[in-house]
Amino acid sequence: MCGIVGYIGMKDAFPILIKGLKRLEYRGYDSAGVALLNSEGELNVYKSKGKVKNLEEYCIGKDVSGTIGIAHTRWATHGEPNDLNAHPHYSQSENIALIHNGIIENYLAIKKMLVREGYTFKSDTDTEVLVQAIEYIKKRYDLTLSEAVQRTLKFVIGAYAIGVIEKNKPDCLVAARKGSPLIVGIGEGEFFLGSDATPIIEYTSNVIYLNDEEVVLLQRNKKPVVKTLKDEDVHHDIIKIKLQLEDIEKGGYPHFMLKEIFEQSKSLAMCMNGRLNTELMEIKLSGITTNIERFRSAKRIIITACGTSWHAALIGKYLFEEFCKIPVDVEVASEFRYRSPVIHSDDILIPISQSGETADTLAAMELAKSHGAFIYGICNVVGSSIARGTDSGTYTHAGPEIGVASTKAFTTQVTVLIMMALQIGRELKTLPEARYKKIVRELANINTKIEECFELSKEIRKISSVFTYARNFMYLGRGYNFPVALEGALKLKEISYIHAEGYPAAEMKHGPIALIDEEMPVVVVSPKLKTYEKIVSNVQEIKARKGKIIAIVTKGDVDIKKMADFCIEIPDTEECLTPLLTVIPLQFLSYYIATVKGRNVDQPRNLAKSVTVE
Ligand code: AGP
Ligand code: GLU
Repeated sequence: MCGIVGYIGMKDAFPILIKGLKRLEYRGYDSAGVALLNSEGELNVYKSKGKVKNLEEYCIGKDVSGTIGIAHTRWATHGEPNDLNAHPHYSQSENIALIHNGIIENYLAIKKMLVREGYTFKSDTDTEVLVQAIEYIKKRYDLTLSEAVQRTLKFVIGAYAIGVIEKNKPDCLVAARKGSPLIVGIGEGEFFLGSDATPIIEYTSNVIYLNDEEVVLLQRNKKPVVKTLKDEDVHHDIIKIKLQLEDIEKGGYPHFMLKEIFEQSKSLAMCMNGRLNTELMEIKLSGITTNIERFRSAKRIIITACGTSWHAALIGKYLFEEFCKIPVDVEVASEFRYRSPVIHSDDILIPISQSGETADTLAAMELAKSHGAFIYGICNVVGSSIARGTDSGTYTHAGPEIGVASTKAFTTQVTVLIMMALQIGRELKTLPEARYKKIVRELANINTKIEECFELSKEIRKISSVFTYARNFMYLGRGYNFPVALEGALKLKEISYIHAEGYPAAEMKHGPIALIDEEMPVVVVSPKLKTYEKIVSNVQEIKARKGKIIAIVTKGDVDIKKMADFCIEIPDTEECLTPLLTVIPLQFLSYYIATVKGRNVDQPRNLAKSVTVE
């Protein structure tokens, strides 16, 4: 979902900006652009629809000199993707250039006022209205650029992360944020802007996180000046981020998604590190230890998320109700936030978000907060908006997830939920000690079984080539593996563009079975569970209608193996841990089908890694 890069310092800005945009490509975009101030103070803007490499080709032979600049990848919301609507946008006088992530909701009202003042517009975007308004305010009140930005944003409604530079002001880079992510990198006499840390970490690990409605003025060899829109001074401690460059490189894999599938044993180990004590076979999440009384007195837990994170949330429901005997509601954030839900102050809301920037999940969290609920977050990106808005929480520590299709984020989210449910269940004495110890021991050794699942990739690659013809897939599962069926279907949809539907297996007879014929591949997630016999009957029903069956079964399975067209065998484990294993073959299946179909696996069409707009 779009991206921002900025630089002010002593180096040539253009290569830093272009490389930064490439590091942000995984977020999804449709256009790219750059604005630079050369040594004469001239402001040059270059922008084009399409990929960053189009922009690079467009810039060949042009004046791309200068040690200060801003750059942008756009995910269009107002105005179709084209060269004119791409960012940066000039102000009327062409003295100011601005880039923007987000939506200016009251842009039409502002535009009407500016038209009355004689302003004209070249693009259809809300962003161009913002830069024109800044110029208008600057001229009208004779302000500096950062003062004009502060004053303008006071009457702006919506979400923004912006970078702004001004002609003949080579020592002034202004940025601001509200509801869209923006990080400031602090180098030696130089500063960087990024929508996340990936364009920055090559140069510095020192960052500050701006809060909403804060404006920062960056000048070479001076401290950042941060102010609120009310002109209050703000101090931010410098945070040292742990992200390393190799974390965001492909490491020899053809795609980030494949790298991240194979990273899952490492990311689960990082997720459990310092939290699951293998000597004592005990789980200690500091956020739970500190707030256990909240969970003891909670009447209800609400888990809210979007997409893959919502699938993890569904597994959380099974876990908390089984082990902690606390009622759980699982809510799609975009529905929850607009539904006028009943929320009590003794509710606990758990927002789950890999990016920590998903607009709907962020808004759902703020709504619950306004009703006094206790917010316990599960995020992957440290310092993200959702993470910083919670009362407490647990980071998944999956490492950066670059592929748009979530893989290690999902399995680490499920791992955090498992650890939470086990620790709370033990504290509340709703989970017998022997069962607790047995599951903890199995969880402590799950990585060996995850790595066994990695060995299935070759077999699944062969199976995948059989099914590239399909135009529809059905995914079925029961219990803990019903959400896995949903997740497998989403993976296939979003990277292969084949329609797929996940369903509770028992629901087949209530309609979807009408779809089954020899053209319909059916993936049945059917490890040895307490409902195994039931799912065997579901497989028989599909077989009887000539459905093509791909079954994910526990090693040594006999019954389903006799009926399925393809059987993928995974190691046996505790029922509540099976999602950590059953999802891996589904990740491989979607990946190989998509690659055989020549899809852009890491940046599927229309998709963004972090949906920061509503
Ligand atoms: C999953 O593969 C997709 N990338 C998408 O559904 C994603 O899970 C969703 O947008 C939520 O993102 P978040 O976890 O960063 O909030
Ligand atoms: N709303 C702006 C536009 O449509 C910015 C979109 C984005 O976040 O990239 O140009």
